[in-house]
Amino acid sequence: MIIHESLRLYPPAVFIVRKLKRTTRFGELIIPSGIEIVLSPIAVHHDPGQWGNDVNLFKPERFLQGPVNAAKSPMAFLPFGYGPRNCAGLNFANLEAKLALSMILPRYAFMPSPSYRHAPIMRLTLGPQHGVPIIINPLQ
Ligand code: HEM
Repeated sequence: MIIHESLRLYPPAVFIVRKLKRTTRFGELIIPSGIEIVLSPIAVHHDPGQWGNDVNLFKPERFLQGPVNAAKSPMAFLPFGYGPRNCAGLNFANLEAKLALSMILPRYAFMPSPSYRHAPIMRLTLGPQHGVPIIINPLQ
């Protein structure tokens, strides 16, 4: 749930691009075939209509019932994209994050350093502009 909530607030891939194979209607919009559209997971992830008025809070318990039930639409959580061309490394990335956390948490306590400045920035992907300095204490 913590990994999901981190990916919701700060999805590394800010844009996903799709090219329309045929003319398609989206609500009142009619988009001709061949047009490329840019979809923004970070915008959907911050939509209060999907997530509620606490959309900007870090609340891992949103994901208690799984990512499909976390928002109004089952498609509102899409850090790895969606459909047949979604991220090929999805399971690997999730496993890697869980492995790293499960090795660190029994051995160390960690907290953000007072020098940490919260400044997400989009370069190729979304990341912390000044890094994430942390203070690590070994557990007894
Ligand atoms: C937190 C880590 C990662 C995130 C958030 C992420 C996110 C994404 C996103 C949003 C897409 C575009 C999906 C779409 O267009 O619907 C993508 C595509 C892709 N990702 Fe990842 N990714 C991650 C890690 C990885 C890793 C570790 C690998 C490989 C080991 C990987 C391999 C790929 C590949 C090959 C594609 C292109 C798939 C295709 O076009 O069919 N990703 N990823």
